[in-house]
Amino acid sequence: MRMPFIAGNWKMNLTHIQAVKFMQDLGYTYKNKNNCEVAVCPPTTALKSVKTLIDGDNLNIKLGAQNMYYESSGAFTGEISPEMLKALDVEYVIIGHSERRQYFNETNEIVNKKISAAFKIGLKPIMCIGESLDIRESGKAEEFVINQLVECLAGIGEENINDLTIAYEPIWAIGTGKTATSEDANDMCRAIRSKTGELYGNKTSEILRILYGGSVKPSNMAELMNMPDIDGALVGGASLKVDDFTAIINY
Ligand code: PGA
Repeated sequence: MRMPFIAGNWKMNLTHIQAVKFMQDLGYTYKNKNNCEVAVCPPTTALKSVKTLIDGDNLNIKLGAQNMYYESSGAFTGEISPEMLKALDVEYVIIGHSERRQYFNETNEIVNKKISAAFKIGLKPIMCIGESLDIRESGKAEEFVINQLVECLAGIGEENINDLTIAYEPIWAIGTGKTATSEDANDMCRAIRSKTGELYGNKTSEILRILYGGSVKPSNMAELMNMPDIDGALVGGASLKVDDFTAIINY
């Protein structure tokens, strides 16, 4: 059985002061009736304060970062290393989000280096893949996503896959209010699992957690979670509203 996993991606929102207030509010209402794993991924500047709140209130919530560089130190002005995240007790790190690919030119090759660097230091990557609307409409979505999967995991050994989470996020569904139908989302998640099975063996692919992301909200979460190959959600906008995020956790 795969433990459901729900991660909130705050994106570039909330100062560390606002983040403290948010975590206090969340801590006050947080109940995890589904006994699923929950993570929040604040901006880098708020990681430390959020961690302090999680520990102080003994919240059963994991800490994730939204990005990192693949080198461990050096002359890379403005970048954050895997070591720096690890030193803040970060457990998860989102890698290859479509916004990083779109606005910051992250290629599959860069994503691959970051995934490898994350495993090397003991961070658990949440690797994002997903197609644009053009690709979906051309009928080549599966081919595109599977190619992303293969290129991003090139050279990554089977021993790491236990600590890998994949987030299937169709770009056209992110922040748009349009969700993929649960059948379409599940079809892609199944294709991802099946390819991972080819690459690493079925035993490994059966324990791999695959999340759906793209306009997840309280009203569509239960239906998505009913699908056999969807193991959770990467939640953007709705993770910034305490009530919505709590409702999603308690789908
Ligand atoms: P959204 O974002 O839930 O606001 O669509 C999801 C994501 O980008 O991870």
